[in-house]
Amino acid sequence: MSEKKPGRNFLKDSLRKQTDFSRTDQNRGVPAPPPQKPFDSTLHRVALSTEKEWKGYIKDLSLDRIISSRKSRRKYSDEPLQIQELSFLLWATQGIRKQNNDFTALRHVPSAGARHSFETYIFARNVRGLEPALYRFLPQDNELVLLKTIPNMTADLSRAAFGQKFVGLGAATFVWSCIPYRMEWRYGPTAYRVILMDAGHVCQNLYLACEAIGAATCAVAAYDQEAMDELIGLDGEEEFAIYAAPVGKALTIPDLI
Ligand SMILES: Cc1cc2nc3c(=O)[nH]c(=O)nc-3n(C[C@H](O)[C@H](O)[C@H](O)COP(=O)(O)O)c2cc1C
Repeated sequence: MSEKKPGRNFLKDSLRKQTDFSRTDQNRGVPAPPPQKPFDSTLHRVALSTEKEWKGYIKDLSLDRIISSRKSRRKYSDEPLQIQELSFLLWATQGIRKQNNDFTALRHVPSAGARHSFETYIFARNVRGLEPALYRFLPQDNELVLLKTIPNMTADLSRAAFGQKFVGLGAATFVWSCIPYRMEWRYGPTAYRVILMDAGHVCQNLYLACEAIGAATCAVAAYDQEAMDELIGLDGEEEFAIYAAPVGKALTIPDLI
């Protein structure tokens, strides 16, 4: 008999049977948390492109080509990302498909209970028309809010990713944070397993959307949790980094179009 590995239980759904869902905040009548973290309205905001504006930047719509050529790409060209392209990537990963009410928004990725517990941070290094800085995506407004400039963004990002240089070398590096309460509100202690499943959908859409515009990306789950949280300005408890992916224009796009 092999040795029991308790960590494996996290992967199972057994906890659901032990959970009293009548005690979740949702079932106790506590109002739902907002689907988009509030922001300081005095901060500078940048309008993102509309679907009509970014449509022309999609080079390839053939899903079979996009899926079969998807791969992790860790080298990026120096070409800037256009704001229309970044807008498309944000639309694909966390864009809102339908706002049901003040508390629930359906997006272009699925999410357990439609709780969508992520925020998207963009370390913009080389995006045409965007001051290099750290931004947060506001999906309800289709805007970016400028959080702060980071003088040594490339080095800081690579350091926060345990020295993985390519993480700081994208034109824009996506870092998704998680606000666990959005999921806990509905699912109590069973929230955590589905949060990680949700994260996979988000990054997969980024991979596919990148392929469609001749951009390159690579999922990154290995990072220094505390350093990454500090770099973004997250408290590490109510909100913390959960996944990352640098994006740049692909060095070569041999099989595109
Ligand atoms: C959850 C997850 C975490 C990953 N973390 C890293 C990482 O920290 N650094 C890295 O270089 N690649 C990372 N990758 C990329 C994998 O190494 C890559 O997907 C794998 O080698 C298969 O290659 P492919 O994506 O080109 O098919 C990660 C991928 C996934 C799905």
